[in-house]
Amino acid sequence: MTHIQDFFIQKYQHQPTLFTAPGRINIIGEHTDYNMGLVLPAAIDKAITFAVAPNESREIRITAIDLGEEVSVFVDEISPLNRQWPNYLLGVVDQLQRNGYKFGGFDCVFGGNIPLGAGLSSSAAVECGLAFALNHIFDLGIEKMELVKMAQLAEHTYAGVKCGIMDQFASTFGKENHVVRLDCRSLDYEYFPLNMSGYKIMLCNTRVSHSLADSEYNTRREECETGVQILQKHYPGVQSLRDTNIQQLQKHVAEFPPVIYQRCKYVVEEIQRVEDSCAALNEGNIEHVGQLMYQSHHGLQHEYQVSCPELDFLVDLVRDDPRVLGSRMMGGGFGGCTINIVKAEAVEGLAETCINAYEKQFGHKPEIYITSITDGCRLTPANS
Ligand code: GLA
Repeated sequence: MTHIQDFFIQKYQHQPTLFTAPGRINIIGEHTDYNMGLVLPAAIDKAITFAVAPNESREIRITAIDLGEEVSVFVDEISPLNRQWPNYLLGVVDQLQRNGYKFGGFDCVFGGNIPLGAGLSSSAAVECGLAFALNHIFDLGIEKMELVKMAQLAEHTYAGVKCGIMDQFASTFGKENHVVRLDCRSLDYEYFPLNMSGYKIMLCNTRVSHSLADSEYNTRREECETGVQILQKHYPGVQSLRDTNIQQLQKHVAEFPPVIYQRCKYVVEEIQRVEDSCAALNEGNIEHVGQLMYQSHHGLQHEYQVSCPELDFLVDLVRDDPRVLGSRMMGGGFGGCTINIVKAEAVEGLAETCINAYEKQFGHKPEIYITSITDGCRLTPANS
């Protein structure tokens, strides 16, 4: 973190403010956010650090320290560039401007340890971190939920991924040692203490990067919208898959192309699994959450079809292992990480089992992360 500050001072010759923007996990509720359903994410101890300060000019200068690249653009001439990483940031500047917020030039250095394309929302962390930082340094007075919405729209408009709201929400609203249940329709949210005594959350990164599959992500969204249109003929009140249920789907199964039916069935059932997981958490029944995670993976693999052989292998590997309560692919899919709830004392042994078996099968090692759950976007303590 201090190397980001030092780099900033050396390069831009003034003093920045430091911010931390975390990545996220999601216990359960995958591909439910853009269907106005429920999700259960948390912010984690992998994060992007930002050093940011106004520079009293009309120029924006941004350095991606991990890539060793810099861009500079004028505040009054924001448009998407041909390079990918600046667009996450410029998209945020564009959203702020479109919403009428006025500010001058600034300098920014950022970098961190969220692996890219691993389903841990590095892009949301970049977007939310900058939104949070600009709100702070220019004293814009924007509510956190508004920042989240702008960061999400930045991803739609400048990165071309029609993502839901989960990642940006989790990165911004995360709370130490809590998961947060977000209702993506009403945007009501509730924190649940994640009492993991005796258990740890272990992520297993396939190192299959999923960025190429972005178009499939958008396709899934369209497939769900097609399902909604079919239902609307009978139930005009159905605005999203959140508003329907299995009975309605089954009643009209004959009108659905089979693939669309599968997609919708998965989403409706997954929303229910989030409800059930929250009830189980309230009862301290982590075993049941684990069972629901396996069910979630089954649906993501066979019905929603956003998994891949590497993810399936890792879930199958631990399915009957008594050290593991639950496992599933996490995030958008097509690569990235599995999330596993593991008995604390067994973590090291299990990591070794996964690394060896995976390497034997695919010829490269997965990465293992034991995560802890942190607060969302915040001023970095080094400021004080
Ligand atoms: C990506 C998107 C999220 C969400 C997940 C799947 O991470 O950014 O909005 O849709 O995929 O649950």
